[in-house]
Amino acid sequence: MNIKYTIKKDIEQALIKIGLKNYYKPLIISKKKTEFGNYQVDNLMKIAHSNDIEPYILYEKILFFIQKKNIYKKMIFSYPGFINIFINENFLSEKLEELFVSSRLGIKRVDSKKTIVVDYSSPNIAKEMHIGHLRSTIIGDVTVRTLEFLGHNVIRANHIGDWGTQFGMLIAYLKYKKLEKKLQNNLISLREIERFYCKSKKKCDVDKNFEKESKKYVVKLQNGDQHCYSMWKKLITITMKYNYQIYEQLNVTLKKEHTMGESLYNKMLPDIIKDLKEKKIATEKNKAIIIFLNEFKNKLGEPMGVVVQKKDKAFLYSTTDIACLKYRYETLHANRIIYYTDSRQHQHLLQIWTIARKAHYIPQNLLLEHHTFGMMLSKNKRPFKTRDGNTIKLTALLDEAINRAKDLIYQKNPNLPKKKLIKLAKVIGISAVKYSDLSKNRNTNYIFDWDTMLTFEGNTSPYIQYAYTRIISILKKSTIPIHKISEKISLVKNSEIQLATKILEFEEIILIIEAKGIPHIMCNYLYELATYFSNFYENCSILFSKKIKTRKSRLKLSFLTAKTLKKGLNILGIKTLKKM
Ligand code: ARG
Repeated sequence: MNIKYTIKKDIEQALIKIGLKNYYKPLIISKKKTEFGNYQVDNLMKIAHSNDIEPYILYEKILFFIQKKNIYKKMIFSYPGFINIFINENFLSEKLEELFVSSRLGIKRVDSKKTIVVDYSSPNIAKEMHIGHLRSTIIGDVTVRTLEFLGHNVIRANHIGDWGTQFGMLIAYLKYKKLEKKLQNNLISLREIERFYCKSKKKCDVDKNFEKESKKYVVKLQNGDQHCYSMWKKLITITMKYNYQIYEQLNVTLKKEHTMGESLYNKMLPDIIKDLKEKKIATEKNKAIIIFLNEFKNKLGEPMGVVVQKKDKAFLYSTTDIACLKYRYETLHANRIIYYTDSRQHQHLLQIWTIARKAHYIPQNLLLEHHTFGMMLSKNKRPFKTRDGNTIKLTALLDEAINRAKDLIYQKNPNLPKKKLIKLAKVIGISAVKYSDLSKNRNTNYIFDWDTMLTFEGNTSPYIQYAYTRIISILKKSTIPIHKISEKISLVKNSEIQLATKILEFEEIILIIEAKGIPHIMCNYLYELATYFSNFYENCSILFSKKIKTRKSRLKLSFLTAKTLKKGLNILGIKTLKKM
């Protein structure tokens, strides 16, 4: 049930019937204080004034044309020019009833199912994931969970960086250090591989012979040489094994079968170059193949060039992304593709999309979206780094989160058995990091602060998880089994109405995430829901209410709050706990 949307449509209909010369879409907001209505038409003044009507007169006209539905209790004019809308309590309670019996909180699957490719996480091979991959991984996963919940056909694409000249260097280095056997026998850790990678890069810079050797291996690998291929495969396996552990730890749904790395498109690249040349989209310049785009200008105001093949015949990140787009449309039949990478890749993606459209690899109406995100900053507003200025490994961050959670839980409950303590710390620590990230608008940078994320107050995961466990314990204490309650919920007190309206807002939030992929609105929502619940709890006794009817109604309302909190956290990929 999307009440806001229903109101919006009804007011829209009324406005159309009135026949205004300047039409504006009504803006509906939900109100915090239900004494003055549950919803408000916020831009009545603007609509009225731009049509030379007094706001009150417009209000009267709207009232005349609004459909008399059982959803509305009353609509009153509020000075200087708002309409306050009161929702009928019986209507709310009927809707809650639907949620009560539904396993999907009353949210229907979409009518027009789309095939949506979500490109997220996408770490690079031979390197440990660092904090830069956290945002892409967890924000992307929220979108995936939301779209899937709505019944879309979602294809997770982990576009790992598994191709490029670095593999030539690594293979050459492994040979030079006689480490090949060790690698084959899984005796080299990812941390070591990353170190070799850095060393091989340095060696390339100073040792011409080694550089030549590395290039030779790139060509060999490209031509399918058995030895190079098996080394390369091993490097991927070792890296990804480590990454899957992180996904599991993060409660992210990416699995092996979702890996569609850069190398997947290798076979397509020569044909793409040939085709782009034939279509006169690409030209040769200094032996390199370049696409000049009028849509993008360089500093001198000239069309920007995108290199798709270097003069040594090597293909680039861009070439792969063009092929990848073609594949996602032709083979995967995508209707919509969403990329989760940081904002620095925005121009790259825009260029790729332009090229793919020009070459008719994809139709104009294919929805392409880059969901960008800002950086994680430390308290001094600089990029969040280790003390010696290196990027922070994701595992280091998650380990610290767990340790800090352990301390926090221990302070609260020193008698907890060690096993339980560790189990709790894992859930609470990881959730806190995830939640603190997801609760910020993804478009901006944010300050990463251990102290604010690991507290039981404010918009944090411990607060919400705790609110959930509190409701569960109330339900447990009750002698009435919740599913045996057949009486309807009756909403009398303001705090009950407020909570009920909030519960019914869940669908609206899901639909916004479907459209925009912004998890922070789910966090805000859950936070509000939890605070509304605690307000309700303070004002209405649940287990000790005198009338059995009231008790049953309030138990049901509590149960629905818990159900919504759980589903919301599940969409965020955050686990709930029965006890904290
Ligand atoms: N591997 C890249 C990185 O770590 C991200 C890939 C994003 N996806 C894409 N189709 N280009 O920056």
